Amino acid sequence: MSHPPPDVPSDDCLRSYNYLFSPDILRDKVAFITGGGSGIGFRIAEIFMRHGCQMVIASRNQQRLSDAAKKLIAATGQQCLALSLDVRDPQTITAAVDKALKTFGKIDILINGAAGNFLCAANSLSFNAYKTVIDIDTIGTFNVSKVMFEKYFRDHGGVIINITATLNYRGRMLQVHAGTAKAAVDAMTRHLAVEWGHNNIRVNSLAPGPISGTEGMRRLGGHQPDWDRNILGSPLQRLGNKTEIAHGALYLASPLASFVTGTVLVVDGGNWLTYANDSMKLLGIETYPSKL
Ligand code: HXC
Ligand code: NAP
Repeated sequence: MSHPPPDVPSDDCLRSYNYLFSPDILRDKVAFITGGGSGIGFRIAEIFMRHGCQMVIASRNQQRLSDAAKKLIAATGQQCLALSLDVRDPQTITAAVDKALKTFGKIDILINGAAGNFLCAANSLSFNAYKTVIDIDTIGTFNVSKVMFEKYFRDHGGVIINITATLNYRGRMLQVHAGTAKAAVDAMTRHLAVEWGHNNIRVNSLAPGPISGTEGMRRLGGHQPDWDRNILGSPLQRLGNKTEIAHGALYLASPLASFVTGTVLVVDGGNWLTYANDSMKLLGIETYPSKL
């Protein structure tokens, strides 16, 4: 069955929630998520908190994080700490992880969700544009994972979930920057799973397909030629929603996945298998502004 659970397009909590997993599957756990103030990261934070988890949401925009934390606490009754950091700056990561450990005394789960993206042809990308996406997505994921390892996971174990994408599987047009960045993160997932397994750390990637109500979709979605046909022609014939991604993350973080490490869980309704990726139709497109 592929009926989606209800969702809302804005960065607000769900109006109602029907439990599929045990409601206390993450009771007394603490999770730290980069990019937790918006989009997919916000919904992961909400679903984790609904399952008993205390949460740290971290990114650059302190105001948006504080607003998000208020909504999450009101909807779930769990604690949520909003901390500003830039995943490109190890000092800010260290300060945030220190604060989180001081507040909660432990961290069990790290979700690397921070990312940056836009549509741009390879020949139009500036050197700095390419580097910026690699810095945020790939190096940022390494930076936060390394700080977490040194500060806590090395001695206590933990779970790491890296949010990636399917863009690189078939070389998606206008996405060389994000595709290579996320491919490197999937490789990092396997390396760290191997190196840190004996520290009782599981490391997995979760690769969403096109997800409604997200900044990613606003930037990459409807203005591509044949977008609707691409979605309707995909195996499950629809966009995914944020709750469906959060359920994938919940599975990977939970004891249900106790023997799962070094993998990529693709949650895309089969989209990457059939997406047209038509180079002739997209050849005329150089770049789109990030904010449309
Ligand atoms: C071409 C662009 C561009 C665009 C920025 N640049 N936007 N180039 N097309 N639309 C270039 C700039 O000109 C600059 O190069 C360089 O990128 C860095 O830009 P800054 O604005 O200085 O960077 P910064 O402030 O660090 O912001 C990073 C950002 C921004 C990625 C550019 O958009 C951001 O903060 N994004 C976060 C939110 C986000 O992207 N969410 C979507 C995630 S979706 P020059 O040479 O001029 O200095 C996702 C998707 C998935 O990841 C898959 C969906 C299917
Ligand atoms: P989003 O809401 O824009 O999420 C990106 C988050 O990253 C924002 O909360 C942003 O917050 C944070 N961020 C960006 N740069 C940062 C930095 N330098 N340091 C710290 N935080 C930073 O977009 P989304 O669409 O929900 O995407 C969430 C994740 O899913 C991303 O990893 C994305 O690649 C992945 N994904 C999305 C889709 C989709 O269809 N939407 C598909 C495949 C994969 P600040 O601005 O506050 O820093």
